[in-house]
Amino acid sequence: MPIPKAELHLHIEGTLEPELALRLAERNGVTLPYADVAGLRAAYRFDDLQSFLDLYYRLMDVLRTEQDFTDLADAYLARAREQGVRHAEIFFDPQAHTARGVAFDTVLAGLSAALDSSEERYGITTGLILCFLRDRPEEEALATLEEAKPHLDRITAVGLDSAEVGNPPSKFARAYERASELGLHLVAHAGEEGPPEYVREALDVLHVERIDHGIRSLEDPELVARLVAERIPLTVCPFSNVRLRCVDTLADHPLRRMLDAGLLATVNSDDPAYFGGYVDENLTDTAAVLGLTDDQVRTLARNSFEAAFLDDATRARYLAEVDAHR
Ligand code: ADE
Ligand code: ZN
Repeated sequence: MPIPKAELHLHIEGTLEPELALRLAERNGVTLPYADVAGLRAAYRFDDLQSFLDLYYRLMDVLRTEQDFTDLADAYLARAREQGVRHAEIFFDPQAHTARGVAFDTVLAGLSAALDSSEERYGITTGLILCFLRDRPEEEALATLEEAKPHLDRITAVGLDSAEVGNPPSKFARAYERASELGLHLVAHAGEEGPPEYVREALDVLHVERIDHGIRSLEDPELVARLVAERIPLTVCPFSNVRLRCVDTLADHPLRRMLDAGLLATVNSDDPAYFGGYVDENLTDTAAVLGLTDDQVRTLARNSFEAAFLDDATRARYLAEVDAHR
């Protein structure tokens, strides 16, 4: 069995496998420009984040009904269990759905139907992270937060995703202030394609508790020292970084340097249907290619629970599972 772990950087829309996309397209009468699974998979070649996002948003069009979102989340949870995931904090992109006429309540009700029984059915505890699309205006993020207000018992945190460069964290200062007032945890993608300055802004302006990706922080030694001193977790996604050409090859990935620097790094899958593997493949393949020791792999698993938004008793229980795993 794979080592127990938490997955903290996972876009539920990025778990849409070609088989399910085609099935939902047929169920909902949506025409996709791909005839079959092979045709779809052939489109999974990306030059950068934007080229991926273009396909990611396009394929989402097959998600229309509450049942579609339940099926999507269920399929992820079944795979996550096989990957040793014990706790998952799952991103979703409401604006990508409301913009095409699917109601916020449909998305949330569909996802919740799968997540609410996840612990009983899969042995996985879950949280939901509502992401703002950073290439859309802040007013839209504030309106999305307003729509979420009746459902805050189902939402753990807010996040910030989509096209990074040109959309700095500071653009969302008011939305994060409001989310904080509402008692939500705060995370943001920063330093994936964007510069170290965006990581600083996420910390200083948005007051985030975790940085998603953050790999470009390594270009700035002072920033690294701060991230280490403040024990800010970084949710790192090795396969994603290679597929989106943020890093040339897995052998060039900075994960080992991040651990050596004392950063609280975790390994995650980002959009596993698109990037060639789920979280345990990310962990084991990257560990093998970079020559990580068993102790370093255990540290990564422990870090995932240290970085999670868990109560102390649950965290301790999961950490004991990691220590007991051989
Ligand atoms: N949305 C889905 N995956 C993403 C990523 N890796 N970066 C930014 N936005 C995303
Ligand atoms: Zn991401």
